[in-house]
Amino acid sequence: MTGQLPLLTVPEPAQPQGIALHNASIDDVWDQAIGARLVFCDPPWSYSNNGDKSRSAASHYPCLTMADIVRHMRCAFDCAAGDSYLIVWATFPLLAEFMAAATPDAIGWRYVTGGAWAKTGAPGCGFHWRGNAEPVLIFRKGKPRPVSTQLLRSTHVTEQHRGKYSKSGEGLAHSEKPIGWQTEMIQTWSNPGDLIVDVYAGLCSVGRAVKRAGNGRRYVGAEIDPGRYRQAVDRLALDGER
Ligand SMILES: C[S@@+](CC[C@H](N)C(=O)[O-])C[C@H]1O[C@@H](n2cnc3c(N)ncnc32)[C@H](O)[C@@H]1O
Repeated sequence: MTGQLPLLTVPEPAQPQGIALHNASIDDVWDQAIGARLVFCDPPWSYSNNGDKSRSAASHYPCLTMADIVRHMRCAFDCAAGDSYLIVWATFPLLAEFMAAATPDAIGWRYVTGGAWAKTGAPGCGFHWRGNAEPVLIFRKGKPRPVSTQLLRSTHVTEQHRGKYSKSGEGLAHSEKPIGWQTEMIQTWSNPGDLIVDVYAGLCSVGRAVKRAGNGRRYVGAEIDPGRYRQAVDRLALDGER
């Protein structure tokens, strides 16, 4: 005994199993998105034509202008790895406007292909856009590679989606996207250990898909709305992830 107290070693705070969800604007999180292999972008589209682009009357969360969404995609491009994909959950009413705005000059990313999500059997989704399908668009940074459209077949998606949610008894919340399908996208378009970025996390369906895809993949997401962030944390807890 020397009479001295032993030094305590304070452990580094653990990264919560590779899932980093922030209650913040994506504009405050870009530094953590550097090197992303796969970026998910499910924008809070504004359907308002009355000049109030900050919040659509029918929406349950803060919405953004087309200019902001395009700017965010450009930021994501600048952060992403040289060989990466961007997946955009689009919306039919604004598809033409978006494609006209999302030129390679504006966003960097180049459009590769697209598919659609058939939302049959997914009640509760799409409060403002009540159509039964949503377009999904794939963009690429780096050398063009063929993309299988097999993965983008909507019939496949519907089955995945229905199975997932009915088994757990878990209802879909506003704009929540199918975890099963996103898990397959992650497995297809990223590698073990890669970083996946979720620009507008919502209820963190992408984060939950990243956990399911596993193999050391990491997740960074931003959700600006405190209520939706809390719901997302609850969703993660459902999977035993937090
Ligand atoms: C279409 S929802 C995303 C749904 C999500 N993919 C899911 O499966 O739950 C868009 C989300 O973007 C959030 N949002 C709006 N502005 C944001 C910003 N600047 N940064 C981060 N999130 C934002 C909204 O609060 C909303 O929850």
